[in-house]
Formats: sequence, structure tokens, C-alpha cells
Amino acid sequence: MTRSHLYTEALKTGRPVFAVAPMIDWTDRHCRYFHRQISQHALLYTEMVVADAIIHGPRERLLSFDTAEHPVALQLGGSDPDKLVKAVEIAAPYGYDEINLNVGCPSDRVQSGTFGVCLMLTPETVAACVAAMKAVTSLPVTVKCRIGVDEQEPELALPELLDRVLDAGADAIWIHARKAWLKGLSPKENREIPPLDYEIVYRMKQARPDVFIGINGGIQTLDQAAEHLRHVDGVMLGRAAYQNAGVLADVDHRFFGEAQSEADWDGLRDRMMDYAARHIAAGGRLQQVARHMVGLFTGLPGARRYRQVLSTDAVKPGAGPEVIAAAFAVVDFSAGDITTVQEAVGA
Ligand SMILES: Cc1cc2nc3c(=O)[nH]c(=O)nc-3n(C[C@H](O)[C@H](O)[C@H](O)COP(=O)(O)O)c2cc1C
Repeated sequence: MTRSHLYTEALKTGRPVFAVAPMIDWTDRHCRYFHRQISQHALLYTEMVVADAIIHGPRERLLSFDTAEHPVALQLGGSDPDKLVKAVEIAAPYGYDEINLNVGCPSDRVQSGTFGVCLMLTPETVAACVAAMKAVTSLPVTVKCRIGVDEQEPELALPELLDRVLDAGADAIWIHARKAWLKGLSPKENREIPPLDYEIVYRMKQARPDVFIGINGGIQTLDQAAEHLRHVDGVMLGRAAYQNAGVLADVDHRFFGEAQSEADWDGLRDRMMDYAARHIAAGGRLQQVARHMVGLFTGLPGARRYRQVLSTDAVKPGAGPEVIAAAFAVVDFSAGDITTVQEAVGA
């Protein structure tokens, strides 16, 4: 199924989209493979890849991924329609299910290139980018934005941006429900300090019932995700999904009608060991896979030791997949269902 079906289906049937957010340095292909072993249905986003890097850089390294990761969306950074078009033409054959444009990232690097969240200030540019990308691909083209930047009034800026990019053909909008401050806050602070305003996102959806609108920002648990889904079509989790990947374990049952089953941690361990073995055989290092797995068992007895084994032993020269087995062996699974434990610790 292509992602246009996914977004269209969401609007038609009420079946939600549950996404793991794009996160630079975190949601690389190894992370996505790991997340896919925990949820079959979550939509997984790449890190932001800058259009120029795709055009001039190491394409294979930037774009290739394992077919097991589907559905997977490529997030692009850029503000020049011609470059974005080239990037889409190069990237689409790799088999992505969606192309997303970053209109929310506030890092200095992004600001000097005047893309990312700076684009909130020039909705006509975002619309031109979306229209250009739509013209060269049949994949869904989506936008991830904030509710505003700096002194912008979200009640005015956000609807204007949405109207323009929807006119240009955007297939879905993901909204990180806080402003970004371009001066004075680090990217990390920009994910924590500007207050969350979920209500404005709900209002955007109310005013555009035919448009897919997904919400992002500060969602920690599946109960919170379910509450948001009463108002919008999709939820996107970033830090909670990465730092505490066990939160994904119940997604397929809760949101996609799959039978409830005991989490198969042995199976997960074995699949990740196989994957790590393949990666090492291809010249990679265990650490590149294992670093994404350290947050898995937050809240269970043994989680600290698990984290320690993975983060110290996986970096040793010649470390192999057996480190993953050793780490899983110290977790006490008899202590309860991981999702219950996580909710108990307020994960
Ligand atoms: C380490 C890190 C890297 C991020 N990189 C990106 C990125 O490449 N593109 C993007 O749109 N947002 C990026 N974000 C923002 C997240 O996608 C998300 O919008 C933000 O973390 C809020 O969601 P959360 O509260 O669920 O984490 C990043 C966040 C983190 C923590």
C-alpha cells in the first residue's frame, strides 16, 4: 500500500497514522529497523537529509535502507524547489513511501541555510517547494511544521501556512504543537521551553475536516496518543519512542486491531542479533546498532544493567551480536508487562 493510501485511508476510515518522528542522529536505518521489530504498523521517519547532501554527497549511505523498514518516510531539508526536485528524483527510486519537508527544525545550520523552521516565515516558499516536489513524484508529499516562530501569531501564521501548502498539493500536515524561537534557544531548548498548544492543532483539524492533520510534541504514552486521536488523524512520537522504545510494543494492538499478544522479547533479541551480524559482516560495527537499543526496558528490573552492558560492551573492539544476548539476559521479564511497567514509572 502506498502512503497516499495510508493518509487517504486514515481520512476515510478513521484508521490513524502512528509515526515515529524524524530525529537527526537518532532515527537512522538501524534505529528504524529496531523500531520496526517492535511495531509493524508505525510509520517510521528518516533523519532530516538536506537536499544538497543528496545531490552532492554519498547517496548510498544517506538513502539506502532495509526493505523491512517499510513504511518509511524520507524527510528532506531545503528551500530551493529545484534542489528539492533533484533530491526527490534521486531518492524516490530507493523505495520510500513518502517525502516530507522539514519546516520545523531550528538548528543554526538550518537557519544559515534559511530552511527548516525559518520557512514558517515564508509560506509561499514552502508552497513552491511542495508544488515542485508533487510535480515529479506520485509519492505523498507531506509537511512537518511548528505552530509559529518568534513573534508570529500562530492563529494567523499556522492557517496561512496550511492553506498555502494544501493548495500546493500537500497530502498531510504534521504539526509540532509549539513555537520555535530562532534567537536565544538551543535546538534542545526549542523542544522543551516554548509551551505546547495542542488546542490550536485541534482547531486546524476542525476547520479542515478533509485534510490529514497529525500532532507531535510531548506525547509520552499510548493513552495520551489515544486522547489526541479523538481530535486529529495521527500522532507522532519522538523522544518517548527513542528513549523508551518499549512504548511501541502495544501500538499494533491498540491502534491497528492486531490481536493482543505477549511481547516476544526473545524473538526481538534474535532478530536484532541476526541484523547486527549482517551489519558487522558488511563492515559495520555493533555499536551502530546497539546504541539505539539502550532505552528499551526502562522501568523493568535489570534495565540499568541491560543499558550498561549494551553501552559499554558493544563499543569494545570486535564486539559481536552475543553482547545483545548478554544484555537481554540480565532483564527480569517476570516483573510484568513492559507497557504497564512504563506507565507506572510515568515513562
Ligand atoms: C535528537 C533529535 C533530533 C531531531 N531531529 C529532527 C529532524 O531531523 N527533523 C525534524 O523535523 N524534527 C527533528 N526533531 C524534532 C522531533 O521530530 C519532534 O518534533 C520533537 O522531538 C517533539 O516531539 P517529542 O516531544 O515527541 O520528542 C528532533 C528531535 C530530537 C530529540
